[in-house]
Amino acid sequence: MATLLAILFLTVSAAAAASFVPQDNFLLDCGATATATSPDGRVFKTEQQTSQFLQAQDDYKISADAAATDVPSPVYLTARIFVQEATYSLHLTRPGFHFVRLHFFPINNTVFDLQKATFTVTTEKYVLLHSFNVNNTNKAILKEFLINAVDPHFSIKFSPQKNSAAFINAIEVVSAPDELVTDSAANLLPVGNYAGLFAFAYQTVYRLNMGGPLITSANDTLGRTWTNDEPYLKAKNLAQTVSVSPSVIKYPSGGTNSLLIAPHMVYATLVEMAEANVNQPKFNVTWNFEVDMAFGYLLRLHFCDIVSKALNNLNFNVYINGQMAISDLDLSHTMGALAVPYYKDIVVNSSLVSNGLITVQIGPSNLGSGDLNAILNGLEVLKMSNTVDSLDGEFGVDGRRESSGSKRGTVAAVGFAMMFGAFVGLGAMVIKWHKRPQDWQKRNSFSSWLLPVHASDTSFMSSKASGSHKSNFYSSTLGLGRYLYNSIFSKLRKYIDYLTNILPHQLFTNFANGSFCC
Ligand SMILES: *[C@@H]1O[C@H](CO)[C@@H](O)[C@H](O)[C@H]1NC(C)=O
Ligand SMILES: *[C@@H]1O[C@H](CO)[C@@H](O)[C@H](O)[C@H]1NC(C)=O
Ligand SMILES: *[C@@H]1O[C@H](CO)[C@@H](O)[C@H](O)[C@H]1NC(C)=O
Ligand SMILES: *[C@@H]1O[C@H](CO)[C@@H](O)[C@H](O)[C@H]1NC(C)=O
Ligand SMILES: *[C@@H]1O[C@H](CO)[C@@H](O)[C@H](O)[C@H]1NC(C)=O
Repeated sequence: MATLLAILFLTVSAAAAASFVPQDNFLLDCGATATATSPDGRVFKTEQQTSQFLQAQDDYKISADAAATDVPSPVYLTARIFVQEATYSLHLTRPGFHFVRLHFFPINNTVFDLQKATFTVTTEKYVLLHSFNVNNTNKAILKEFLINAVDPHFSIKFSPQKNSAAFINAIEVVSAPDELVTDSAANLLPVGNYAGLFAFAYQTVYRLNMGGPLITSANDTLGRTWTNDEPYLKAKNLAQTVSVSPSVIKYPSGGTNSLLIAPHMVYATLVEMAEANVNQPKFNVTWNFEVDMAFGYLLRLHFCDIVSKALNNLNFNVYINGQMAISDLDLSHTMGALAVPYYKDIVVNSSLVSNGLITVQIGPSNLGSGDLNAILNGLEVLKMSNTVDSLDGEFGVDGRRESSGSKRGTVAAVGFAMMFGAFVGLGAMVIKWHKRPQDWQKRNSFSSWLLPVHASDTSFMSSKASGSHKSNFYSSTLGLGRYLYNSIFSKLRKYIDYLTNILPHQLFTNFANGSFCC
């Protein structure tokens, strides 16, 4: 409580840094022989200090020449390579959301070409990366996840693909403050409340400081990185940036938003509608983000009115993928003052991301009587885990596959069933061919050995009908073998009939009816 009060007090003073001490704070510099300090001042542990966490068959530790390697942090200068599965097991002391950050840089070495290393990374519950590959990039790659860990035992497993290898330069597993993730948000469509966000895992896909500079982990109390939005801006001439001194930002003392949600620098800069178009002021400022369309997303939009000269002078709308996301937002009314940070979380279902894009637009509302303007200070796009607890690909840790109710899924399933049927049929033919009677050519050839003409169904039915026959039926292993053989083949025959006659007919009629589903 004392620390909470301290945080609330400190947020009033813009110059003070927020103090959040994560209870779980695992910083592992894989393959390192000496401790490394990242530019934000955090000290990462060496191999020797962390060896108790790792279970691995391999012992490949590699390092790069610091002088000849261009990386943003010394933690990228060493790595571990795993040719076989390897697991880091950590004991957490505080349940709740944790940042899990995986740092990758493909160091040149004699063990394995890491540009070609393809591997999967999982926790006990979630797939974090599936068939991950650095794709010939020669840059440091950071993958950040937010995972609600309720079990004290937390593990991260690296599984190389066949004949490949896995590698990792550094790992962070760090408690996130409780206020960072709330259980409910607004649902984009249908409009309403979305409850149950604690049940998901998240991957940071974009974290942007609109109209502002790169904010590195050194300037963010939670070690996050915020990048500039310009690469995603659709029409640059329709937008302009505004920035004020960070000391102008007044965090609300009630706790609805604190420095831990986003630092001053995020709220002290923004993108607004360009004044160049005052003659035709009704337009939107648009950002486009490429995303994996198989997943849903949680968007956190950050606002702070640092442009208005008076209260109640700025009303605007926010759209996501063409849908109204926030209607007629008046920040000074909502927050009671200017320059007070505000954020809103919105869930975007995967069905609304069918073109692989998330489009965020801001534009003036018709209701406002004040300035025709619209603003956005920051944006976070977080991928949500799917129904089988994966953040990458459609399979879960336990091999379950995401059951997609979509048409795409149905068509794929039918295709798969037909292919499977063909394989089974082919396999049966091969087995039959090997077991063919010596004189098969003299008999009535192909069909006679391919499928049993003496259908067993009748004998099975009769034996079932009169229990007395049962003992006779199973009297010898030969009988049982023949029974299984016949019953499998009769089923197979029916299945082939189904595939060749009924299914195409059904598909055709469904297609003609306009519904492409069985
Ligand atoms: C990697 O190392 C090999 C020899 O160990 C060297 O021939 C090659 O040029 C190096 N590649 C890079 C990108 O440094
Ligand atoms: C590498 O390419 C694959 C396929 O294009 C993609 O799924 C994967 O995310 C890429 N990896 C990186 C690190 O960009
Ligand atoms: C980051 O913080 C340092 C001092 O801690 C400061 O000099 C620098 O201007 C800050 N940069 C940003 C983008 O906030
Ligand atoms: C802004 O975008 C929304 C959603 O795409 C659209 O409905 C609206 O008409 C646009 N507003 C203007 C002024 O173009
Ligand atoms: C998306 O919508 C579908 C169907 O309405 C629903 O089953 C699914 O749970 C939703 N996804 C998320 C992440 O809420």
